[in-house]
Amino acid sequence: MKLDADVGLLGLSAEEKSKLTLRYEILVRWATEQWRERFGVTPFVALWASENCGNHLVRSRIKPGRKLKGQVQVSGYETLDCPHVVPISDYRLPGRKPMLMETVGAFQFNFSAAKRKFSAIYVSSYYSDDERSIISIALIPAGELEAWSAFEMQCNRAARYLERSQSVYIVGGQNTSFKPNVDWNDVILPDDIKTDLRSDMEAFFKDGVPIYKQLNLAPFRKLLLVGPPGTGKTTLCAALAGLALKQRRVVVYVSGADEDGASFHKIHHALNVVASANHPVLLIVEEIDVYLRKDDKAQILNVLDGLESPNNPKGALLLATTNYPEVIDERIAKRPGRVDRIIYIPPIQDEEQARLMLKRYMGAQYHDDHDEVLGDLIGQTGAFVREVALHARMLAAHNRETTVSLDVLQKSVHSLSTQISTGDDLRPRRRMGFSERERAERERRILG
Ligand SMILES: Nc1ncnc2c1ncn2[C@@H]1O[C@H](COP(=O)(O)OP(=O)(O)O)[C@@H](O)[C@H]1O
Ligand SMILES: [Mg+2]
Repeated sequence: MKLDADVGLLGLSAEEKSKLTLRYEILVRWATEQWRERFGVTPFVALWASENCGNHLVRSRIKPGRKLKGQVQVSGYETLDCPHVVPISDYRLPGRKPMLMETVGAFQFNFSAAKRKFSAIYVSSYYSDDERSIISIALIPAGELEAWSAFEMQCNRAARYLERSQSVYIVGGQNTSFKPNVDWNDVILPDDIKTDLRSDMEAFFKDGVPIYKQLNLAPFRKLLLVGPPGTGKTTLCAALAGLALKQRRVVVYVSGADEDGASFHKIHHALNVVASANHPVLLIVEEIDVYLRKDDKAQILNVLDGLESPNNPKGALLLATTNYPEVIDERIAKRPGRVDRIIYIPPIQDEEQARLMLKRYMGAQYHDDHDEVLGDLIGQTGAFVREVALHARMLAAHNRETTVSLDVLQKSVHSLSTQISTGDDLRPRRRMGFSERERAERERRILG
């Protein structure tokens, strides 16, 4: 809030004073004129209102006839022309479908009850040209506070309402939702890791939530998957998302892959969605380290500490991933409570895993003598094996061979390993996290 209006108004000309008038005062004044024109001397109160009442999506969801409180119901709205507000909506283009995100504008909302009708004048606007937060005011008849508050509550709920669906909701990213298409059995990892993770999720949603509540804790559980790039963390998240959807949980996926990048704003939005989902939610945040490298890292840590975490009474499970355990080490692992469990997702550990992975990506083309390469696959990632198999299968097809010979497979392993040693990115390796650098810097400072 700007302080201008409070400071030294004395001695200013009328014009200068009007420049200092706060935005909401202008809006209330304009709304008052509208009120006088329409409803004469009917007494009203002016209120700060929820910006959600002006939201396009909300207005389309709250249909005439919607019951509010007592006998009151919504009968509709008109859009008003307000010279102080340019009605404007944001839209995103998820796939090919445009979606309106929020609206500022002026409206007259109409309500009716058994023996009376009444209206509210509502205006919402950006605070100023350079501050994009929205301020909203409403004038309502002096005796209708309860009905208005019920209306606002429904608008707030409609703004966040998630239809339970068979898709994963995406916050950020290029799409609004996707259907996870990874089958649980297609994830090749040591059984104990898979079983452990799956039962952790299922136990939390089934039995964990009431236990958290008995202890008077918000039912918010945090799991972190850690491991080199390409070991299958994203694949695992997708498979868990599929399981969660089957059990009728809501799944929300936070993506850093859009023009906003990884901003806390996005996480914040996701947390609101989680808190008001009215269903148990699996919240997936991939590459959480990226958020921790930015200025808003303190806020992320607050979320993990529970200060800003979602209170979804039905339970929220955060599944986060990172390729860079170094970043995590300092800020999270050494601080109990920030993450409930850290689960290491390793590269291929033994011949048995290597065989399963090779079979998975060779498909029907797999045969026993391919096992010759298994030794070379230990220590590599699923992403590596997939690429090796695809490459070998393409080579064979290109040579018009109906089967993939051991020779072709070995060549493929060899050429991919060489490519990697010249710097491509399928090999498991750790890069330096910024905390390493920070640590070194701190040491330098301390040592003088
Ligand atoms: N454990 C695995 N099981 C099955 N496929 C895997 C596995 N790990 C990697 N892959 C394959 O490699 C690709 C990249 O793996 P991804 O899950 O994105 O790794 P990460 O998120 O750990 O970097 C996946 O799409 C998948 O095809
Ligand atoms: Mg990943």
